[in-house]
Amino acid sequence: MKAIIYEEFGSADVLELKEVEKPTPRDDELLVKVHATSVNALDMIFRSGESLLFGMTKLMAGLKKPKHNILGFDVSGEVESVGKKVTKFKQGDLIYACLRTPGANAEYVCVPEKYPAIKPANMSHLEAAAAPDTGGTALRGLRDIVTIKEGQRVLIFGASGGVGSYAVQIAKTFTTEVTGVCGTDAVDMVKSLGANTAIDYKKEDFTKNGQIYDIIFDAVGRNITSYSKCKNSLTEDGIFVTVDPQSTVFRYMLNKKVRGYMGNVIGEKLDYLRELIEAGKVKSVVDKVYPLSQMVEAHRYYEEGHPKGKVVISLQD
Ligand SMILES: NC(=O)c1ccc[n+]([C@@H]2O[C@H](COP(=O)([O-])OP(=O)(O)OC[C@H]3O[C@@H](n4cnc5c(N)ncnc54)[C@H](OP(=O)(O)O)[C@@H]3O)[C@@H](O)[C@H]2O)c1
Repeated sequence: MKAIIYEEFGSADVLELKEVEKPTPRDDELLVKVHATSVNALDMIFRSGESLLFGMTKLMAGLKKPKHNILGFDVSGEVESVGKKVTKFKQGDLIYACLRTPGANAEYVCVPEKYPAIKPANMSHLEAAAAPDTGGTALRGLRDIVTIKEGQRVLIFGASGGVGSYAVQIAKTFTTEVTGVCGTDAVDMVKSLGANTAIDYKKEDFTKNGQIYDIIFDAVGRNITSYSKCKNSLTEDGIFVTVDPQSTVFRYMLNKKVRGYMGNVIGEKLDYLRELIEAGKVKSVVDKVYPLSQMVEAHRYYEEGHPKGKVVISLQD
């Protein structure tokens, strides 16, 4: 099968299209024919060998050399066969999943049974591959980590990105008042996703405009914003939650108004997301689609840091 391989850590140039052996599923795995995958922050971290989360990412990606030679965490595709202990899925099912171990930048990938869910019927594979990591992460942050409630005022920092575009829409499903913060080019898009207000961070600093929020959801990470910068923009019980857990791990022990977390996207979250998608309440925003052979260009575009929604890779003819 064709796959994008990397044998050393580095820039996008380490990625190469090669012919490799098709994988064989274990007893608890599905063999999935990949129709689409997408580009995520974790692909960049694994590719570059960056040591984050106190070395945890390095342990996962490999200490000196990549432990897994194929990247790709999001997948949308068709089940080709199942291991003998698999009970929830069968050959021919169309699924979407976020993998814990990468491998979806290939024509086939093995997926442990607990990660996938049936793909939303009203989405193409391209749209479905844009949903698992970012949609699942936004869902966990808002629903599980801060328990979002009707009537709350919610600010999404990074509202135009992969996680942020899902966070805006998911927050709206809880009947909240949503403010999205994004760059100039994305203001109209963020409003079209349902945000009541969109703030252009290039023109206005939301931490200085006197508005306060019950939840500030940081979907940018990399310490561009922080609890310290946002604390005066929170209500008395307000919570700052970030997709960048490294920045908050010690602070949370002292201050329960700060939360950082990992997405932990398993099938249950994707079942929940599918119901929202099929009800027409949330959708994927796909910025660009590249063929598998243009993975280097896809990584470079994502690394510029301003995609409007997701960068998706098509394996369909
Ligand atoms: N915890 C987890 O499990 C988990 C899972 C997935 C992702 N993440 C993290 O989530 C973050 C976002 O990932 P993503 O894939 O959604 O990224 P993305 O699609 O590249 O989105 C990045 C967002 O950041 C905004 N941005 C860039 N520079 C900015 C600045 N200087 N000030 C304000 N906003 C800025 C962009 O807005 P404009 O384009 O409008 O400028 C865009 O909305 C990453 O840090 C990633 O590591 C964490």
